[in-house]
Amino acid sequence: MTKSALITGITGQDGAYLAKLLLDKGYKVHGLVARRSSDSRWRLREMGVEADIVYLDGDMADACSVQRAVIKSAPDEVYNLAAQSFVAASWDQPVTTGIVDGLGVTHLLEAIRQFSPHTRFYQASTSEMFGLIQAEQQDENTPFYPRSPYGVAKLYGHWITVNYRESFNLHASSGILFNHESPLRGIEFVTRKVTDAAARIKQGKQQELALGNIDAKRDWGFAGDYVEAMWLMLQQDKPDDFVVATGVTTTVREMCRIAFDHVGLNYRDYVKIDPAFFRPAEVEVLLGNPAKAQRVLGWKPKTDLDTLIRMMMDADMKRVAKE
Ligand code: NAP
Ligand code: GDD
Repeated sequence: MTKSALITGITGQDGAYLAKLLLDKGYKVHGLVARRSSDSRWRLREMGVEADIVYLDGDMADACSVQRAVIKSAPDEVYNLAAQSFVAASWDQPVTTGIVDGLGVTHLLEAIRQFSPHTRFYQASTSEMFGLIQAEQQDENTPFYPRSPYGVAKLYGHWITVNYRESFNLHASSGILFNHESPLRGIEFVTRKVTDAAARIKQGKQQELALGNIDAKRDWGFAGDYVEAMWLMLQQDKPDDFVVATGVTTTVREMCRIAFDHVGLNYRDYVKIDPAFFRPAEVEVLLGNPAKAQRVLGWKPKTDLDTLIRMMMDADMKRVAKE
């Protein structure tokens, strides 16, 4: 029988990769899409799946529309990827971030509890919940210490998922994913900001690149690998929480070096430090331990940072050349 899936945040980076994965597996894929005045489906076109999705209007802040989407899609699986996901913006829009990334999760869980309790649920939790890290390498047992309104809102989303699992016996899992990137990454995130700038500088369309804290360290993986972990979580008999990471951490500075190197440039000649890009409270370092995901899900990252950055650089070089 064809399985039905509902993806919130289907127009985002992970939504596009996950939609492709599920369509390739034969799912009927529904996407909750918020009303926007400009085109938001470009990633789905890039993945070649725009026409294969059933679109349902709705917004995570609007409980009625979320409920309607659950009823209409009659989903076997729901993947809650929708979020205001840019950490820096969460200080400018703390309330919206709290509603969408935090309370929005309850809207969805309540709809499932009331109208579709057999549905399996995935919550897009984040390594930002570890924030001011309490262990050198973070796993499912590391205490949380969020450092931004985004991290705080996501922590609510994580715990309400655990709570609905324990209170109502829902098959609700939380994936605590570390940073993952791709050519479809939003331009405001540091990896795409760097690969886009390196491509523009190489092609004479930009002179320099202004960045903030380039000593920050992140555990970066490839989005295409990480959506497989999401799917695997919902195929388990028991719902649970899983850290998904590579187990390697790298500075933003080193990431710049790899990107600029790829096009024969030295990042030191172009990168300028601009206080405007520093955050009110920084997450200095993240390093995940994916041992449980490997043991229980059989999941391992397939793409190292060098390969990932080269993939992004190649895509940006082509895109910038066409502009
Ligand atoms: P993304 O590219 O920013 O996509 C976010 C998606 O959420 C977009 O489809 C966006 O729609 C949608 N959205 C935003 N506000 C909404 C609202 N009020 N109602 C309905 N939809 C709304 O994020 P991503 O990188 O794919 O990440 C997917 C999820 O994983 C997010 O929840 C993020 O917080 C979480 N996460 C990401 C990472 C990472 O490194 N990428 C790591 C850990 C966790 P529009 O396109 O219309 O704006
Ligand atoms: N965006 C950005 N722009 N970040 C910069 C810049 C800059 O100019 N300069 C330095 N950085 C540093 C940030 O301060 C941060 O320490 C690091 O680069 C990564 O920033 P982002 O790429 O914006 O990602 P993030 O780690 O804050 O958040 C991403 O990963 C989380 C998982 O850990 C997002 O995808 C979140 O949604 C996700 O939950």
